[in-house]
Amino acid sequence: MINTGIKAVASYVPERVVTNDELSRIVDTSDEWITSRTGIRRRHLSTGENTSQFCINIGNKLLEKTGVKAEEIDLIIVATITPDYATPSTSCQVQKALGCVNAFAFDVSAACSGFVYSLSIADKFIRSGLYKKVLVFGAETLSKITDWTDRNTCVLFADGGGGALLEPREGAGIIAEDLHARGDDISLTGRHHVVENMVCRDAEKGNPYLIMDGRAIFNFATRVVPDSVNEILEKSGLGLEDIRYIVPHQANSRIIDIVARKLKADISKFYINVDEYGNTSAASIPIALSEMSGKGMLERGDKIIITGFGAGLTWGSMLIEW
Ligand code: ACO
Repeated sequence: MINTGIKAVASYVPERVVTNDELSRIVDTSDEWITSRTGIRRRHLSTGENTSQFCINIGNKLLEKTGVKAEEIDLIIVATITPDYATPSTSCQVQKALGCVNAFAFDVSAACSGFVYSLSIADKFIRSGLYKKVLVFGAETLSKITDWTDRNTCVLFADGGGGALLEPREGAGIIAEDLHARGDDISLTGRHHVVENMVCRDAEKGNPYLIMDGRAIFNFATRVVPDSVNEILEKSGLGLEDIRYIVPHQANSRIIDIVARKLKADISKFYINVDEYGNTSAASIPIALSEMSGKGMLERGDKIIITGFGAGLTWGSMLIEW
């Protein structure tokens, strides 16, 4: 059977690193609080590059790595909640910059589940047999929608991107998925655009920044992620012992610890790099995959589960045979 395989992964994070100590000079926090509550020690913040630039850098790396020509790309999907513009889409900017003249392109907004959602969409296009080569990115400049006076959020969010080049693959590749949304809970919202025009003055003022009920998201994530991983295992007829790695969205190392405990899985099965990058929303899973690939951790035939959760609320997992 023709599945969707991941031919290559790549990532890009801005050079500028901000430590917890540096943050403690602008808001009332401490390295001790941030490290013990979140596992985050550092994060990379953009000094001006926008989300499209991250994707362009990653796209160039993917084309160079694989030898695929820009004209061969059929589709570009960018998962992001921090596009450069509302329109044109970030994916269209990437399409032009990379010279992917034969590709159509669109963005996906699903917060920290965005990369999993986008892989799922790409998978359906490839399985249709009509499209052969797809670029999928997860990229964010969350720093531009972060309130740098709010200690509840500014210690968590950061910038970066990752991506994958997908193509048809016999047998292996994307094997199973489990995707969800629950739009009735807006405990995390960002950049609320209220209606304000010549016939309507806004009753409530819009909010340009991410606001969040951290505890609610924490409880939601530790509830749904183990269920979703179990669902994937059941769908694919596999046990945890068959899975080499679980690559979760990197929001908080305590969330990952609880998920591991609930699944009765050894924590060493989980890839964790939240200490270095903070929460980069849609970018966190592809950054992790790119890092793992660079370290030689992913061998052909390895089965891994990626699992994302975030604003919306959205969540989803996917089983991939590398
Ligand atoms: N430094 C010091 N104290 C702080 C800070 C800080 N940076 N931030 C909050 N506090 C305080 C709070 O004010 C609170 O004080 P109080 O008890 O006097 O009111 C106290 O610390 C504890 O707050 P809690 O909310 O109970 O802390 P908790 O252990 O839940 O940790 C955290 C908070 C880190 C936000 C955690 O709940 C979390 O990680 N939640 C998930 C967040 C997440 O993943 N969000 C994003 C999804 S991303 C997306 O979709 C874009």
